[in-house]
Parts: sequence; structure tokens; C-alpha cells
Amino acid sequence: MADRIPTLDDLGDVAGKRVLVRTDFNVPMENGVITDDFRIRSALPTINWLTERGATVVTASHLGRPKGQPNPKYSMDPVRARLAELAPGVELLENLRFDAGEEGNDPSFVAQLIDGIDAYVDDAFGACHRAHASIVGPPQTLPSAMGLLLQKEVEVLLGLRNDPKHPFVAVLGGSKISDKLGVVEALLNTVDSLVIGGAMCFTFLAAQGNPIGASLWEPDQVDTCKRLLDTAGERGKTIHLPEDIVGLDADGNFATYGVRLPDGAKGFDIGPGSAAAFSDIIMDARTVFWNGPMGMFEDDRFAAGTRTVAQAMADTKAFTVVGGGDSAAALAQFRLDDEVDHVSTGGGASLELLELGDLPGLDALRKAPNA
Ligand code: 3PG
Repeated sequence: MADRIPTLDDLGDVAGKRVLVRTDFNVPMENGVITDDFRIRSALPTINWLTERGATVVTASHLGRPKGQPNPKYSMDPVRARLAELAPGVELLENLRFDAGEEGNDPSFVAQLIDGIDAYVDDAFGACHRAHASIVGPPQTLPSAMGLLLQKEVEVLLGLRNDPKHPFVAVLGGSKISDKLGVVEALLNTVDSLVIGGAMCFTFLAAQGNPIGASLWEPDQVDTCKRLLDTAGERGKTIHLPEDIVGLDADGNFATYGVRLPDGAKGFDIGPGSAAAFSDIIMDARTVFWNGPMGMFEDDRFAAGTRTVAQAMADTKAFTVVGGGDSAAALAQFRLDDEVDHVSTGGGASLELLELGDLPGLDALRKAPNA
């Protein structure tokens, strides 16, 4: 098996060829309107690279989770319209997940996808952790390559995993520690410190014996959090937890607390002291990876912690990488998305690549006939 992942140059002359480009156009939508076209714009360098060299580009993507059934709610029409503005003349197939063969990795669906296609390009970083038909199928038979977006994502994220400049700090938020356990364990191999905010901090605070009121937490993860705190300490790493919390008291009034929350109080954001401390840690780092908001930033009352972290990401001289999903949405909401070094287009994919160092989509490309 070749170790190298083929790049666009490995496709040879693409003039006159029909090239299937798997993109991740799984964009956020409200009432059929795209609210953020970042993933569509991110595919343009690869699409333009191919069309400028005379290829006919056919793009294909999933959108949402229609579970193997056609569903107008998940039609690609709005994406197709936006793509036509950005890259006129580029074809886009209907939602791949309208066919159960996509998620089932059905060979007959793969055959249908590659019928009349000469080469395959994977630029769908956000979906490369899924061993679905359109990701792992075409490279079995077609000359294949990673697109420019996928190449950049892999370089940046494997760079963090294998050779970060120290101090390397990972800032993690979001609601569940159980979703991020694997990546936390893997990050503890490379980071100097972990900063934990978001609702997942309550399980850590509870593991330290603090009452957390009625805040969201995962009682079955308390032992895991205890273990992570101990292992980090034994390995000379620090896990930074919030020192204050803002939320609502039992009567629903806005309140600021230390780390011990009274009965009925619910924490929804890190407090100002924690935000300032986290910001200082980010400012002093040379590499920072951020995934997951610090609080419920969609609500203005609980956006300050996430905003302070986003601003520190923008201001620090460190090399800054933001995992996709909610933290990318937060950066965009604060108009700071141009101020960090790399915003990943993948949420789950970026965490899985950091955790495992490989993805099914990359493995499939390594085995392509032209690799
Ligand atoms: C994402 O949004 O993270 C990717 O498009 C993958 O979507 P999925 O989690 O539905 O597979």
C-alpha cells in the first residue's frame, strides 16, 4: 500500500475529462435559505483548478440526514443556485443521502456515481470520517486525488497532531465530554494544556466535588473526568477549568457564581474571571486549537465567554486553528473568521483526524490505482 495520498497533479492531464468532485456542501440552512456558504466557497479553488485545465466538473454532496429517502427539505436546489453564482457551469448531483446506498456504501450506488466519470477528487474534508459510498468507493477503480481544501486541512491538522509549536493549548467547549473523550485523550499526548469551557465543564467541576446546581452534566462521565484530571497532572499537563460561571438562578434571574452553584442554578457560560484567564493562556501560546463554544452564545446574555475566547484567538500571535461546527459559527457571528490562521470545514472530521491521525477517506485515496 502506498503511503502517499495522491494530489491533483497525480491525475495527469485532465483536459476533456469528466471529474467527479465529492464536496461537503452540507451547509446550514434556515427555511430553505443558506445561512453560511463557507463550505461552498471553500471548494472553489479545487473546482477552478480543474476547470481551468479543461476538465468538466461534476460535484456531489450530502445535505443533512435524510436517511436514504428523497426529501424536498434536503434538496440541493439552494446549494445548486449558490454554486451557479460562484462557479457557473459546474454540475451538482442531487443529495447523495437520498439513496440508502450512500451511507450503506453499496457497490451498485458507487457504480452509478462513477458511470461516465474519468477521475475522482475528494475535497469533502467534513465527510472524510464517513466510510460512505461517495467517499471510499470511487478511489477503488478511478484515478483519484485529494482536492486543495482536503490537502490543506490534512496538512494543518496533522501538523497540530505531530509537530505543534509549544506551548500548544487546546480549548474545548460544547455540551458533552462523552463526544470528545477520544480527542481529549489524544490531545493530552501533544498539548501543554487543555482549557475546558462549555457545558462539559460541569462534569469536570462535579468530578472535583463542586455542587453544580441544575446545570447540564453527564453523571456517568464523572469517573472519566477524574481520571483525565489525574492523568494530566501525572504527565505534567494542566487542565484549566473555569473559576466562575454565569447563568440563571432558581428563579430564572441572571446570576454570576464561583464554581459552586446553589440548588436550582443553571450555568450557561464561563464567567468574566474565567474568560480573562482563558484569554491570557491563549495569548501566551504558540499554537492554539479551539473546538466548541464556551457557553450558549446564541443567547446574548451568555455570549461573553465565547466572544472573549474568539477575540483572543484573533489577537494572539500563536498559530490558530478552529474546528468546524459551532466554534466556526461563533467566529463568524463575531466577524472574526478572517482573523485566525485556519478555520476547518470539518467538525467531527477534524476531531477524528486529531484523535486517530487518519480518516477512511484518506485511506481510500492512498489505495487508488494512481497512488
Ligand atoms: C458535517 O457537517 O460535519 C459533515 O457534513 C458530516 O455530516 P454528518 O455528521 O451528517 O455525516
